[in-house]
Amino acid sequence: MQNYPSEYLEKYPASIDLEKRAKSRMPHLSWEYLQCGTGDEHALSRNRHAFKDIILTPRPMQGAVVPDLSVELLGQRYGAPFGIAPVGLTGLMWPRAEHILAQAAARYSIPYCLSTVATETPETIGPLVGNMGWFQLYPPKEKAIRADILSRAKNNGFHTLVVTADVPVPSRRERTKRAGLRMPHRMTPRMIFDIFTHPSWTFATLRNGSPRLKTIEKYTDARSKAAVAEYVNSNLGGTFSWDYFKELRDEWTGTLILKGLTHPADAETAVELGADGIIVSNHGGRQFDAIPAAISVLPEIVRSVKGKTHVLFDSGIRSGLDIIKAISLGADFVFLGRTFIYGVAALGKQGGAHTCEMLIDELKNCMIQLGCTGIDDLKKIRE
Ligand SMILES: Cc1cc2nc3c(=O)[nH]c(=O)nc-3n(C[C@H](O)[C@H](O)[C@H](O)COP(=O)(O)O)c2cc1C
Repeated sequence: MQNYPSEYLEKYPASIDLEKRAKSRMPHLSWEYLQCGTGDEHALSRNRHAFKDIILTPRPMQGAVVPDLSVELLGQRYGAPFGIAPVGLTGLMWPRAEHILAQAAARYSIPYCLSTVATETPETIGPLVGNMGWFQLYPPKEKAIRADILSRAKNNGFHTLVVTADVPVPSRRERTKRAGLRMPHRMTPRMIFDIFTHPSWTFATLRNGSPRLKTIEKYTDARSKAAVAEYVNSNLGGTFSWDYFKELRDEWTGTLILKGLTHPADAETAVELGADGIIVSNHGGRQFDAIPAAISVLPEIVRSVKGKTHVLFDSGIRSGLDIIKAISLGADFVFLGRTFIYGVAALGKQGGAHTCEMLIDELKNCMIQLGCTGIDDLKKIRE
């Protein structure tokens, strides 16, 4: 991996800078896919607004504070309390995004969660991510296929399985429909215009080939994008239930995490059925528009599981300060989806590293402001 240019922290100090640059470098369709929520996007904006309203009171006078960001989670030491959330159709947003993010995860010792519907496979990403690999499962209807995907993940070093609960059916995502996203892809005049006006994305895509759901291709007619799209829509999800989760618990011998819960009673059931962790998440506002802001339900869920499982969090985090806010409300660890993709689309090969550097810098600065040396201190700042 190339050296990280230190001036990047001056040039692109915050997620908003990456977001702006990503928007200018991405074709309209890719941008709309990344950015969109569902419906009128109330859940999307609720996630962000809820973060703005969280207030923390600094405790200065602690002498020289040297923050330590490392954290122990589920038997593994991580370099920082955040990871890279699973993102599907990644290559549509930036070619080779999975490679870039997996390498950054290995370099900064943070988890990278590869999506079932990413545009790369566990076979290609496993060797790059080392022991930082988590794998996200959209639960297949057919047990034989589930077993095959799980063994591919396991054999390629992905030790933690994240199964996504909150996609019982693909969401309508009206904004991406308006932008013309269809599987299989159909060219429109707007897309042709975009291809010519976004040369970095276009050349990278020409070099890498058009994005395909490579993990899933194995289970259907790989030559037909229509067949792959149809397979995803009709076979992944739609039947996920607590009984299915129990089967998965028996089948997967590694760490198992249930992602996409916002109700305390569901969190309690996940604990009873042996989840090693849960991710409180509303899928970044992409599934159901009336859902609460994920951060607003976090404290109640933390209370309801009574320390019996690990509570992880995503949805709406854009900065180191947001990470601290989530931890102060009880999260053991957090994930970021869009922010990492902004980084990659904005800065290409350096984007994964830059996003980590930016978040680490913000985290350290805010921890010193608060007078906290470690992640455990952050959990106590409301006491
Ligand atoms: C473009 C995009 C694609 C996503 N694809 C997946 C996916 O394949 N599987 C999954 O479990 N979650 C997926 N998510 C949800 C993320 O894992 C995560 O929950 C969400 O992005 C967190 O919100 P944030 O973007 O505000 O950080 C996706 C999110 C985005 C933005």
